[in-house]
Amino acid sequence: MANENAQFLRLFGRRIRLGMVGGGFDSIIGETHRIAFQADGLFDLVAGAFSVNAEVSTATGKTLLVADDRNYLDYHEMAELEAARPDPIDAVVIATPPHVHSDVAITFLKCGIHVICEKPLTRTMEQALQLKKTLEDTGRIFVLTHCYSGFPMPRLARDLVASGALGRLRMIDSEFASGGAGVALEPDDLSQRHWRFRPEIAGREGILGEVGTHAYHLIRYVTGRTPSRLSARMQTFVDRREVFDNAYVDLEYPDGAVGRIWSSYVATGNQHGLSFRIFGDKASVEWREEDAEYLRFRPLREPEVLYRAGQEGTSEFVSRSARFRPGHPEGYIMAFANLYTETAFAIGAVKAGRSPEPWLKNLPGIDDGVLGMQMIEGAARSQSAGSSWVTL
Ligand SMILES: NC(=O)c1ccc[n+]([C@@H]2O[C@H](COP(=O)([O-])OP(=O)(O)OC[C@H]3O[C@@H](n4cnc5c(N)ncnc54)[C@H](O)[C@@H]3O)[C@@H](O)[C@H]2O)c1
Repeated sequence: MANENAQFLRLFGRRIRLGMVGGGFDSIIGETHRIAFQADGLFDLVAGAFSVNAEVSTATGKTLLVADDRNYLDYHEMAELEAARPDPIDAVVIATPPHVHSDVAITFLKCGIHVICEKPLTRTMEQALQLKKTLEDTGRIFVLTHCYSGFPMPRLARDLVASGALGRLRMIDSEFASGGAGVALEPDDLSQRHWRFRPEIAGREGILGEVGTHAYHLIRYVTGRTPSRLSARMQTFVDRREVFDNAYVDLEYPDGAVGRIWSSYVATGNQHGLSFRIFGDKASVEWREEDAEYLRFRPLREPEVLYRAGQEGTSEFVSRSARFRPGHPEGYIMAFANLYTETAFAIGAVKAGRSPEPWLKNLPGIDDGVLGMQMIEGAARSQSAGSSWVTL
């Protein structure tokens, strides 16, 4: 995207001014966002309310060279004061736990500021619908960082499905089964547990928000299809844990395809564990994030084709998104950066009075978030009804 980036900066005349809520030095994902939005030189971080802990928040802003008068302790104050400035932030990045997302997003949207929000969209469906309504009322840009859709190979898989190369889709399987959180025992003291494992914060089926929505979004993104029914079976394996740490969600699609998502925190020995396999009547594709540079395309009765990221002549996005020469893996951060760069182009289009749609159509947004929440809600309903099939 190097030429497009240079052209953007020439036309826009400056970098996009970003603020962050959450993502302090006490967070897991904050630094990932910062590396990703700085990768292509299109954003400046100029403001933030980085943490619930005032000391951490201030220290994070100071270390990141945010000016003292823009290093806030409260995101309501941040939105109000930023909107009143002659040089306000153009967009805010929300990197807090999910139960805070809707209030932060609504606060900034109402101040006319675009939003880049971590998944899952919200904690509840009610919050999700309220956020969608505010977005419609304000007409701002909203990007949900389902970052795996920024990898070149899932984008190529999407092109292959859309071209009909797989034929009629039959089975759509994905998994996000990691092993890292499979600790033997949760701490006795409830307050010592991470929010992901606290039902009052993340919900009992929070695993579907944390990892399941990524897998769900990815298969929807690649296949262009949304399931109409699901049946869920969820389990808790770790002692004293009060939330599910493993979940199988079976899916049915309106066109007859079937599939499933396996989400897990206790897949012992697995690392990150995200992958998909999609089977049609002419061919199948397989992608694993830990081998992200490769897409395996397997036509019926013909030799397998191994597509590689950076390869010329594969797809427009594969060529355009490559920053380095073929053979240098770009990985997770650059996939994340691809979403940021497309977001910059969308914001630039709005500022220039043009439609952001050419960029937004490839970016995860509010509807993806609402559908993710619908999947979680459906799975909870199914689980409490003995894993019966429920309509989405
Ligand atoms: N896209 C991905 O690959 C990916 C990976 C990890 C986490 N996430 C998502 O990112 C979000 C954050 O996850 P995390 O693991 O970094 O959580 P975390 O608990 O490690 O960090 C959360 C941060 O938000 C801050 N915070 C909380 N409430 C706040 C408030 N009211 N005002 C200001 N700051 C506040 C905390 O102090 C902390 O800095 C979650 O929605 C999670 O699902 C996404």
